Amino acid sequence: MTTLITGGAGFIGGHTVLAFLDRGEIPIVLDDLSTGIREAVPPNVPFFVGDVGDTELVSRLIRNHRIDAILHFAAKIVVPESVVDPLKYYFANTVKTHALLQTAVRGKVRRFVFSSSAAVYGNPSSTPVDETAHPAPLSPYGMSKLMSEYMLIDTSAACNLRHVILRYFNVAGADPAGRLGQSTPGATHLIKVALETALRRRPYMNIYGSDYPTPDGTCVRDYVHVSDLARAHLAALDYLRNGGGSRTLNCGYGRGYSVREVVDAVRMVAGVDFETRQAPRRAGDPASIVANSDQLVSLGWKPELNDLPKMIEHACNWEKKLASVERTARGQPSGVVDVAGNASHAPAVP
Ligand code: UFG
Repeated sequence: MTTLITGGAGFIGGHTVLAFLDRGEIPIVLDDLSTGIREAVPPNVPFFVGDVGDTELVSRLIRNHRIDAILHFAAKIVVPESVVDPLKYYFANTVKTHALLQTAVRGKVRRFVFSSSAAVYGNPSSTPVDETAHPAPLSPYGMSKLMSEYMLIDTSAACNLRHVILRYFNVAGADPAGRLGQSTPGATHLIKVALETALRRRPYMNIYGSDYPTPDGTCVRDYVHVSDLARAHLAALDYLRNGGGSRTLNCGYGRGYSVREVVDAVRMVAGVDFETRQAPRRAGDPASIVANSDQLVSLGWKPELNDLPKMIEHACNWEKKLASVERTARGQPSGVVDVAGNASHAPAVP
C-alpha cells in the first residue's frame, strides 16, 4: 500500500516527502507545479503533474498505486491574496478538496491527513489556543480551510474514512541537511522576506502594523520548523495506521515571537543590518496566535528543532544556495534550475 502526497513539490509537502524517504518509505506525488518545483522531489519518487480536482487522474493513481492514505497539501496559501481574490481560494482549497475527497471515498482510501491552518482561529480569545477554541477565520484563506475541515469531518462520519486535520501555525526554516527550502518566487512570508532583504535581494522590507495589542505593537506568531512539521505528518499517519480515530490537532511550539523580534533574529543570524519600513496593517492578519499542541505531542510528535535562530539559519543557508544557483543559471542558456541538486527526470506514467 502506498501514500499519495498532493502538493509534494511544494515547501511543506516536499519536506514531508523527504521525511518519508528518511524512514525508508516511498510515497507518490501529485502536484500541478503552479507553485511547486519539480526538482524538489527526488527522482526515485513517482511524480505526476496534475490537478487534485482531476477525478479521472486521481482515480487512476489510487487504483494503479494501491493508495490507502492521502496527505493533502496542495493549496493556495497567501492570506492577503485570499482577501483580494476570495473565489480563487474557495476554488483551489475548498472545491478541489471536495473533488479529491469524493474520489478518495470512491477509491476506498481509508486514511486522510489534511493541511489546515491556524488561520481558522482568527483572533482567538485565549492564548495559547487549543483545538476546542471556536473557529472564526479573518480571511477567505482561513475560511476555505475551515470549510474543508467540515467536509472532511462529515465525510469521515459517513464513510469508512479516518482523518487527521493538522492546523499549522507559521511554518519556517528549511531542511537542516540543505536538500530543500522555500523556493517559490514572490515570497510574502515574514522570515523569507526578511532573509531576502538581509541578502540584498530587496532594498527594504515592510513591517505591517505597529498598533496591535501586543507587547511591541507588531503581530505575534508561533514559528514551527518545516522539518518538525513534516514529522508531524508521519506521526499522524502512523496514528491512523494503528487504528486511531479522526482528530483535529494544532502544530506549533507554544511560543510566540513578534514581527520585530523575528526581524532582529534575522539580523543577528545573517550578521547584517537592513532597512525596515513601518507600513499599515495588512488585511486578514490576526494580532497574536500561539499554539497549544499538547494533543499532537501525546500522539507521538517529538519536536526536534524548536529554536528560532536555528530555523532562521537553516532558511538562510537555503536562501544563499538559491542565490548562488540563480547566479550560475544566469550564465546558462536555458532550462530548469535544479535547486535541490537532483538530475532532471521525466514525468512518471499514472
Ligand atoms: N509581515 C510583515 N512584513 C512582511 C511579511 C509579513 O510585517 O514582509 C508580518 C505579517 O503582517 C504578519 C507576520 O509578519 O503579522 C507573519 O506573516 P506571514 O505572511 O509570514 O504569515 P501569516 O501569519 O500571514 O500566515 C501564515 C501562513 C498561513 C497560516 C498562518 C498561521 O501563510 O497559512 O501563518 O498563523 F495560516
